[in-house]
Amino acid sequence: MSCCTILSLIVLGTAGPSTSVQAEGPIHWSAVTATPIPESADLLTIGKRLYGLQCARCHGQEGRGNGPYANDLSNKPRDFGKGYFKARTTIPKGFPSDLDFFRTITAGFPAYEMPALGQLPERDRWALTFYTKTVIASAMEAVITEKLEKDGEEVNAAEVKDIVSARMSPGDLVKVPREPAGSREASIRRGQMTFIKGDYRCANCHGPQGKGDGPNAANMKDEWGFQITPRDISQGIEFRKLVYTPEDMVRVILTGIPGTPMPAFDLAGTFPEGIREIWDIARYVESLGKD
Ligand code: HEC
Ligand code: HEC
Repeated sequence: MSCCTILSLIVLGTAGPSTSVQAEGPIHWSAVTATPIPESADLLTIGKRLYGLQCARCHGQEGRGNGPYANDLSNKPRDFGKGYFKARTTIPKGFPSDLDFFRTITAGFPAYEMPALGQLPERDRWALTFYTKTVIASAMEAVITEKLEKDGEEVNAAEVKDIVSARMSPGDLVKVPREPAGSREASIRRGQMTFIKGDYRCANCHGPQGKGDGPNAANMKDEWGFQITPRDISQGIEFRKLVYTPEDMVRVILTGIPGTPMPAFDLAGTFPEGIREIWDIARYVESLGKD
C-alpha cells in the first residue's frame, strides 16, 4: 500500500462539507480521526522504541526539546516540561485528549518542521501517543522539581507525581456551536468588522487583512521564551498548524493557542451574539487570501 492510500484511509469518513480534506495532500490536524485503543505494557514498549527513532532527535529522550537536531531548526521542537499544548479539542484549562496527541503525531506540523507520521500503522501511532505521554509526565515533573529546588523548597517526588497526573487529566471537549443560518457573504462582511474592531482584537495582532502586521505584533515571546509572530493568516492554509476550516477557527477562538499570546475567548454571557460573531470571524478568515 502506498503512503497516500494509507493517508486517505485515515481521513475517510471525516470529509464532510466543511472538513475539506484532499486525499492526496497532507492530512489536516483536525481531520484525523480514530478510535482509541487501550494502553498496554506492550504498546508502551513499542512506543518507547518508536519515540527513540522518530521523536528524540528533536524533542530529546527526556522531552525537554533538546535533541541533536534542535539547534538547527528555526521552529524549536517543544520542551514538553511546561505542559502547554497548542493542538487540542479540549477546554482551555484542560489537558489535550489522547486523540489530540494521536492527531498531532499523525498530521505533524509540516509547515513548522514537525513531520507527519500518518504512514505508520495506527497501532504504532497509539503506541507513540501513550509513550509520549509518559515522556511529557517526566518532563513536567522535572520542571516542577527544578523550580522547587531553585526556591529552596523540599521536594516530595510522590507529591510532584500527583500534581502532574492531576494536570494531565484530559479536559472536557470544547463545544463548537453550530453556524447560525444566513448569507455567507453578509457573514464575511460582518466578520471583517468584528475582526478589526470588535472586542476580539484579532487585528491588533494580525493586522486588518490578517497579514501579521497589527500594532501589537512586534516583540512577542511565547511561554518557552522564543520570539513568536502573529501568523500572516492571509497566506494559504498550507502555512497553518491548526486552522483549516471555519469550524477549526471557531474552536481555536474558544481555546486560544496555549503557550502563545493568542487568547481564548469565553462566550459565557454573550449568547447568542457571541456565536454569530465568532462564526462571522471564521468566515472572514476563510475568505482571506482568496481574492
Ligand atoms: C524535525 C523535528 C521534530 C520531530 C522529528 C518531531 N517533532 Fe514534535 N515538534 C517539533 C516542533 C518544531 C514543534 C513545535 C511546533 C510549533 O509549535 O510551532 C513540535 C511540537 C510537538 C508537540 C506539541 C504539540 C502541541 O499541541 O503544542 C508534540 C506533542 C510533539 N511535537 C510530539 C512529537 C512526537 C511524539 C514526535 C515523534 C513521533 C515528534 N514530535 C517528532 C519538531 C519535531
Ligand atoms: C495577542 C495577539 C493575538 C490576538 C489578539 C489574536 N491572535 Fe491569532 N495568533 C497569534 C499568534 C502569536 C499566533 C501564532 C501561534 C503559533 O504559531 O503557535 C496566532 C495564530 C493564529 C492563526 C493561525 C493558526 C494556525 O493554524 O497556524 C489564526 C488563524 C489566528 N491566529 C486567528 C486569530 C483570530 C481570528 C483572532 C481574533 C479572534 C486572533 N487570532 C487573535 C496572536 C494573536
